[in-house]
Amino acid sequence: MPNVTVIGAQWGDEGKGKIVDWLSSRADVVVRFQGGHNAGHTLVVGNQTYKLSLLPSGIVRGTLSIIGNGVVFDPWHFRDEVARISAMGVTITPENLAVAEQCPLILPLHRDLDGAREDASGAGKIGTTRRGIGPAYEDKAGRRALRVCDLAHLDDIGPQLDRLLAHHNALRTGFGIAPVDREQLIAELRDVAPSVLPYIQPVWTRLRDAKAQRKRILFEGAQGVLLDVDHGTYPFVTSSNVVAGQAAAGSGMGPNATGYVLGIVKAYTTRVGSGPFPTEQDNDMGERLGQRGREFGTVTGRKRRCGWFDAVLVRQAIAVSGVAGMALTKLDVLDGFETLMICTGYRLDGRELDYLPAHTADQARVEPIYEEFQGWSESTAGARSWAELPAQAIKYIRRIEELTQCPVALVSTSPEREDTILVRDPFVD
Ligand code: IMP
Repeated sequence: MPNVTVIGAQWGDEGKGKIVDWLSSRADVVVRFQGGHNAGHTLVVGNQTYKLSLLPSGIVRGTLSIIGNGVVFDPWHFRDEVARISAMGVTITPENLAVAEQCPLILPLHRDLDGAREDASGAGKIGTTRRGIGPAYEDKAGRRALRVCDLAHLDDIGPQLDRLLAHHNALRTGFGIAPVDREQLIAELRDVAPSVLPYIQPVWTRLRDAKAQRKRILFEGAQGVLLDVDHGTYPFVTSSNVVAGQAAAGSGMGPNATGYVLGIVKAYTTRVGSGPFPTEQDNDMGERLGQRGREFGTVTGRKRRCGWFDAVLVRQAIAVSGVAGMALTKLDVLDGFETLMICTGYRLDGRELDYLPAHTADQARVEPIYEEFQGWSESTAGARSWAELPAQAIKYIRRIEELTQCPVALVSTSPEREDTILVRDPFVD
């Protein structure tokens, strides 16, 4: 199957936007399959910078873009993002943008709960984006969510709203928040529905047809494997499965639809929010990485925590997600570092580990085993071929391949789309 699934292989923010944009120019369909508007994908096309949180990156180039059933969907955010990107000159119509009927809706009450819970959680705070992502997924699994298709049936939502509000009002009372104003919620839904209705479709039929016509489908993951609700640093994770296997369930296609799985890997490591981060450099070195890499969140503007490349984590992410090749990003950020450190294993209670243990306390206690690596003083920024890379940078890439047991398919050397070294075209079988 000529499909490609792109996922982040660290804690998100690996630079997926650029790679997805680059691949989407060769794809016929681009599909989001999990997460919501907690994602932040920055696309630089010419002298325009597009910041997307919910819309699939393909939309910027007019490629058919699909929001699959695995996504939690904030209709107000959708309306505003469509308006903002349209105002930048992008044509968005139901012909090139489709939203699955089954997506659970993120409502204002989810945002309230996300914030109230974070504020009340003391040291257990997750550091969420406060956009209601977790509570919306909880309501989906709890079978009390309103869904995108309900926007076409607002006269019939009474019983479902009873179930939803019974749950939320009990929680709100506990958190000292006023109960939900039911009539106001219905009025707000009526107000936003016309902005969403034209895009609602049984998207699985479009994907079925695309498959029959052997069209190239690009699945666009959000966040990163270490934020996966099963495989990540639980509980400091997002509330969806972000691994490649979710592309099938989150879009309505069979398990073989994922095709070539491309893992996006940053040449060092960053994380936003709370939780263990073994190679974190909470010091001048981390500051330097953050400054050079402009490590501030696209969605929340939060400063990202920065650290050395952790081969243990990436190797694990690659294994649990079936990654076939890596796209290595932000190599140029390391230009000029005299010495680079690569984490090759962990030490815990006198034992050496070649994986991240599951328990959060153990994850916080592991001590990285570092390999020291000589840096390079030349610039890699904008390189488009191996010949333009300093020998030491090539050695760094080769060492990452060895340690993660995964080949590099692409190297990205600047935010510009064309500044990419292509080793293997993921769309070519
Ligand atoms: P939530 O997804 O808003 O519930 O946040 C849960 C965790 O995932 C927090 O640590 C967030 O910072 C993190 N997170 C969510 N989306 C992204 C993303 O797109 N990039 C990086 N981190 C993210």
